[in-house]
Amino acid sequence: MKQRRALRKPINDDSVERVAPKRPYVLVTDAGHENPPFKRLDQPTGFLMDRISIRGGKILNGSIQISGAKNAALPLMIASLLTAKTLILRNVPRLADVNLLLRILRNHGVDMMVEGKRAKQDESVGETIHLSARSIVDTTAPYELVSRMRASFWVLGPLLARCSEAKVSLPGGCAIGTRPVDLHLMALEQLGANIEIEGGYVVARAPKGLRGNRIVFPKVSVGATHNALMASTLARGETIIENAAREPEISDVAECLNKMGARVSGIGSSTLQIQGVEELGGADHMVLADRIETGTYAMAAAITGGDVLLKGARADHLDAMLLALRQAGVKVEADGSGLRISRNGNRLYPINIDTLPYPGFPTDLQAQLMALMTMADGVSTIRETIFENRFMHVQELARLGADIALAGDTAHVRGVDKLMGAQVMATDLRASVSLVIAGLAAEGETVLHRVYHLDRGFETLEAKLQACGASVERLTAG
Ligand code: EPZ
Repeated sequence: MKQRRALRKPINDDSVERVAPKRPYVLVTDAGHENPPFKRLDQPTGFLMDRISIRGGKILNGSIQISGAKNAALPLMIASLLTAKTLILRNVPRLADVNLLLRILRNHGVDMMVEGKRAKQDESVGETIHLSARSIVDTTAPYELVSRMRASFWVLGPLLARCSEAKVSLPGGCAIGTRPVDLHLMALEQLGANIEIEGGYVVARAPKGLRGNRIVFPKVSVGATHNALMASTLARGETIIENAAREPEISDVAECLNKMGARVSGIGSSTLQIQGVEELGGADHMVLADRIETGTYAMAAAITGGDVLLKGARADHLDAMLLALRQAGVKVEADGSGLRISRNGNRLYPINIDTLPYPGFPTDLQAQLMALMTMADGVSTIRETIFENRFMHVQELARLGADIALAGDTAHVRGVDKLMGAQVMATDLRASVSLVIAGLAAEGETVLHRVYHLDRGFETLEAKLQACGASVERLTAG
């Protein structure tokens, strides 16, 4: 994987790479992207060239409805492969990744129906999708599709459990790290699968079906937990998954699986017990609120010194993030309707954070927190412990005037008095939105290129920000 690098100019210590304002830097290559450009099913011409223009300095005030979580919706959709009956998913966000996964599932034989809008239906509520995998017509997930979205690799476990075989392309690396799949394969092998790698594909077979076993993950992995959990629901006997990821999205999937007739216990803990069943049925399930979208708009409200109600947000899924905001001097109030975030003129204090698996501070909010800390009163330390290459936003934030020094897995962010608008480039989903956050606080115009990254994971971002008074506009090419 090629990387982009700033000119190295150590400051205090040789291990420190400083990316500071006004220092020249070169872009050697494109940093790559998790998701190569693709034509969405409903994609307008010129979609890939869209940009977002932000005129900073507006204080955000108002309310934002939080969408269904992308990272729950994707595995929930994949769970439809486990049953011949219909799985109804509500509050599914309208996202490019959801569209792509629908296409991938259709390739396996899943019939789908999106419920039409009802009169007076709230636009901010996501879609209701009916998924029916009456018969699986193809157990191969091809490179062309899997390489566009890593989560599609998670079809491996369900296909194998239901059809006793599956052939799924290896997803490859991406902009934020190498992202191996060894833990996924180890888990399925523990369940009795025979796995071979042939021509860039994982070929998994279990002619006699999967059988329950004890799976001990040496490292916490969200995707490997999803894969093992879904596969084990149809395995014979009991499966125990130890050191399972505890992200709320895993619990949401486990609860949906139980509605489908699975027998999963220990939900929300790091030990999941699954009693395998012969078959699963249909279910009707509401996708949980997106905690990463919530955190993102919380940082946006905080950086502008605004006052925003995040409707439907789940404060109980965001303890580490809310603690960080409070330490930074941001006011956080939670009630039954959501979360209110305000910083009426208070100063922003610097903070020190390590990203960690849930319930720790999420890596998916690291870039957004960094954007916020660019304007704090002092030096913040942000350590990324989940992915080895998730600092691509640093150089782009520097284009806006941020003062950030990188030392290995740690970013030292020295707050500046002001950011200045500039042309910046999105490199992955969360990095992109960190640039939007910084742009909201920057003086003048910030133009974000490669907006397709944002469309993968943020539903109607411009409209949500505009409704709170932000000057954000999509510039559509072609
Ligand atoms: C999920 O990715 C999320 N994706 C990511 O969100 C999120 O950043 C990540 O979990 C961590 O929270 C979805 O839910 C669709 P992991 P996943 O397996 O499952 C290593 C976003 O922006 N690892 O928990 O792929 C891996 O390299 C995305 O929405 C292995 O070593 O992440 C990483 O260092 C980006 N071997 C760590 O584990 C494996 O077999 C955690 O990765 C699998 C993972």
